[in-house]
Amino acid sequence: MQYVAFEGVDGAGKTTVATLVAAALIRDGLDVVMVREPGGTAIGEAVREILLGARESMMARTEALLFAAARTQLAAEVIEPALARGAFVLSDRTVYSSLAYQGGGRGLGVASVREPNMWGLGSVWPDLVILLEVDPEAGLSREDSSDRISSEGLALMQEVAETYRGLADAEPGRFRRIDAARDIELVVSECLDVIEAAL
Ligand code: TYD
Repeated sequence: MQYVAFEGVDGAGKTTVATLVAAALIRDGLDVVMVREPGGTAIGEAVREILLGARESMMARTEALLFAAARTQLAAEVIEPALARGAFVLSDRTVYSSLAYQGGGRGLGVASVREPNMWGLGSVWPDLVILLEVDPEAGLSREDSSDRISSEGLALMQEVAETYRGLADAEPGRFRRIDAARDIELVVSECLDVIEAAL
């Protein structure tokens, strides 16, 4: 168990929680690599610009494939080597974001979106998914900046939240659901408990 995903709707607090969890694990002496998606490599960051900044309307399939492309690069360039040396990888979003946002939110279907990602990633797949749950409306109002996807609004985010719940139910061994509407210290300590238990 070395590859941990932080997932959730926009504004769930993934970035803050993942950063605090990483700091705690580093204090405990673990070799920790933290990454974010989309991004984390030069190619991935360039693809991120297209994905989040594009003004033109983008086909949902194009969007899914670009996320998968950025992720494939990150897996090969950063995650696989980190796992190979025994490091612990914490990721702010992973393939499960694509399943929830493009598969559910955009209506492409989870199974269809899984395909190109499996092809791109091979065995580099999260061992543990921490799903930070907040009410989608509260999440959107917590966002301080909005990008092309989060500005789509509440209906998309509700679909995303529901898809995440379905994914968690389908893979109970991989997912842990955490109520992220509570105090940040509590959320972080619960994440650390979950990771420790999985180790
Ligand atoms: P980001 O700034 O990372 O948002 P957040 O802080 O909420 O994680 O932007 C990522 C946006 O892209 C976010 O709206 C979720 C979306 N996204 C997808 O739709 N599919 C994906 O596969 C990934 C990784 C992100």
